[in-house]
Amino acid sequence: MISGSRIAWPKPFRYPRAASHRLQRARGYFDRTHWDGARFSIKGWLFLLDRPLTRVEVLLDGEPAGETDLYDRDDIAGAFTDKKWSRRSGFTLDLPIDRDRLLPWVTIDVIGYDGNEAVAILSTIFAPYLQEFLPTPPVKLMRRVANTEDQQHFTLAGVAHLWDFLKAIEEHRGMHEGDRILDWGCGCGRFSRLLLNGLTHAGTSLQGCDIDEEAVEWCRENLRGGTFTAIDTVPPMPYEDESFDIILGYSIFTHLTEDLQALWLQELERILAPGGIALVSVHGEFAASFSSDERVARDLRDKGVHDTSADQALDGVAPEGYYRSVYQTRGYTQQTWKQWIEVVGYIERGAGNYQDLVVLRKGTSPRPQGSRSVTLEQARERWASVRVPETAAVDPAEESLRRDAEQLQEAIAELARSQAEGSDVDLVAERRRLLADFGPETRKAVVRLLARLNREAATRGVEGPSNRNGEVP
Ligand SMILES: C[S@@+](CC[C@H](N)C(=O)[O-])C[C@H]1O[C@@H](n2cnc3c(N)ncnc32)[C@H](O)[C@@H]1O
Repeated sequence: MISGSRIAWPKPFRYPRAASHRLQRARGYFDRTHWDGARFSIKGWLFLLDRPLTRVEVLLDGEPAGETDLYDRDDIAGAFTDKKWSRRSGFTLDLPIDRDRLLPWVTIDVIGYDGNEAVAILSTIFAPYLQEFLPTPPVKLMRRVANTEDQQHFTLAGVAHLWDFLKAIEEHRGMHEGDRILDWGCGCGRFSRLLLNGLTHAGTSLQGCDIDEEAVEWCRENLRGGTFTAIDTVPPMPYEDESFDIILGYSIFTHLTEDLQALWLQELERILAPGGIALVSVHGEFAASFSSDERVARDLRDKGVHDTSADQALDGVAPEGYYRSVYQTRGYTQQTWKQWIEVVGYIERGAGNYQDLVVLRKGTSPRPQGSRSVTLEQARERWASVRVPETAAVDPAEESLRRDAEQLQEAIAELARSQAEGSDVDLVAERRRLLADFGPETRKAVVRLLARLNREAATRGVEGPSNRNGEVP
């Protein structure tokens, strides 16, 4: 039981409901949240796609703690060249804060203003001593699920995403003593290690499962209080019907084809208790708007879903062709998924300000059998028929451009470093000068590639993961 965890969290859960409901979730990230014993520093960036932001106010546990004007972030503008309002996005605050106000954890809401109007929100939580209590997975495993080797990033992203899930649980059902929780696709425990160390209500129990045996083994050996099970790539899972009250699935459906999604939705419905909920994330239209693969936009327009791009992050772990980079529209998800389970909530950018969060519920009356278009018995047969991904052929011209762009990027980074060290180099002028070495068409292509490389670097900062297609899991 989680109540036996090593940290006692005396603070009751509080959710900044009022704030988060009225405001648009911003695209953004907390680069740093740090308490040095006297001052609490917060650094990050946020922007909206449809209107500018000028300043931010920071709320700690819902109480105003400070405000500041936004400043220009060239790195963010460079990463999101086609997003009009991405440049004026940076915020840094250094707040004199008492230790007690941060313990054992504190919610941080950064509210973005357009003039005097509060319009955007970026949220996370901060727990100053959390890292000390948490076992850290090996780099190889962190990289596999989150494309990061940075343990602080792994923890911060985990906390921020889990916080989003907990808020949605509170809104749709609540979490109660005795609840049985499943971390479906737990990987190396990004959520589980937090849940087992107090970031949940006391008296609940936790199980985790994943198709990645090595990650499951690590959880089993290092995360006390949970039960972890390796499962197959197709249902059924080794759980009885109606075994769980709450299922969390962060970034699993983002990798499953339409066929596999159908099978797994039915499986989640089977193992949920009546009235239980499953919260799962998908790549929706917002995430798709950051994809540089033209097939994504085309498929979303034509079919509502793109599931043919391979993701190599699980090479050697999952069968070839299984793991994908999948995008789907809100309309597709709501219309298609309701065949298998009730869709009771859809929060755009609701998981980490990037993936959409879908709330599913098992009703208390039995679902009509006729509504199931894929049966569990067909699972293995369907798996065998899953389409082989169309992997884009490597274009030698693009390869050579990529090399040019990478060299250029290195040269620009070098200039930025010397600027940071005090030289008065004009970065914009230097960048223009460097680009002038290329002909007009090549220049355009190099600029596009540079934007993509920058975007990959920035999304790594946002979500950690960026697979070989340059997309985020
Ligand atoms: C992007 S990672 C996210 C892992 C974890 N939820 C986290 O946030 O760190 C996706 C995970 O889903 C797992 N996975 C893929 N297909 C799965 C399935 N059908 N059932 C359970 N886990 C699956 C992968 O092995 C991988 O650990």
